[in-house]
Amino acid sequence: MTYSSIKRAAVIGWPIGQSLSPLIHKHWFERYEIAGEYRKIAVEPDHLETALQGFIRGNEFIPDGLDGFNITVPHKEKVIPFLDKVAPMAKRLGAVNTVMIKDGVTTGFNTDITGLKKQLDVTVPDWPKERPVLILGAGGAARATISAFLSTEVPFIMLSNRTKAKAEVLANELGQGRVTVVDWDDRHDAVTGAGVVVNTSSLGMVGQPPLELDLSHADPETVVYDIVYKPLETPLLKSAKDRGLRTVDGLGMLVYQAAGAFKIWFGVDPDYDSQLKEKLLAAL
Ligand code: ATR
Repeated sequence: MTYSSIKRAAVIGWPIGQSLSPLIHKHWFERYEIAGEYRKIAVEPDHLETALQGFIRGNEFIPDGLDGFNITVPHKEKVIPFLDKVAPMAKRLGAVNTVMIKDGVTTGFNTDITGLKKQLDVTVPDWPKERPVLILGAGGAARATISAFLSTEVPFIMLSNRTKAKAEVLANELGQGRVTVVDWDDRHDAVTGAGVVVNTSSLGMVGQPPLELDLSHADPETVVYDIVYKPLETPLLKSAKDRGLRTVDGLGMLVYQAAGAFKIWFGVDPDYDSQLKEKLLAAL
């Protein structure tokens, strides 16, 4: 086998230290017997365009270039002007997390959106689609979450964030008239009637305070989804489980966004198998 027949992908970000993506893609290379490598590349904010040229044409570190790469903070938005093509959903959201490089042409996608929805569909196939969704937080993760639910038939989205102005900006920019902003202090009342409640804020993450949310008036059918995956069982998910509500953790979203990228690059739709879950839990 020549070196150039090896599939090559990477994740870029700044900083890039903690990404679990190499573990996931390496697992699938082994499982599907694909000769491939997936590396972490730290790209400084001012070096994005130069780095992209290296990924396309090759450079001293990657002589043959890459077949594709994932993008994390802070490059998801800034990469767009440098790409040849951008898929419609990623363009609408204004964020790309996956780039395919084929015959020197770069195409951007957003598999955060599809990954988030896939994890919900796989974990709770009959999630209540006829009821509104409550989304907490208004950062980058909230943007992808709003886009994911706007692509479903849910009647509307309630968006609540500590800094209300940020929620209003997102509702105006992405909402298509289907996002209403709820005061942070009123989020507890919004739980009543919500079919899915999603935490996209950093509350509940290791080292952060828990998300305070009164679930006592939640309908028994309500699904509680936490994008935070460290810890896997956040205080929010624990209190939802204690009340008998169905829950979805954030690790699956991470795996399915990676799966979306793997399929785009290599044409294989990989499984979220139990061995992969074990490896991820050990690495958390
Ligand atoms: P990401 O891109 O991962 O979504 P982010 O852009 O830093 O991360 O967003 C973090 C989210 O968590 C924001 O919605 C933030 O609220 P503000 O917009 O008011 O900052 C929310 N968040 C973080 N700490 C919080 C806290 N102590 N209380 C309430 N919300 C908090």
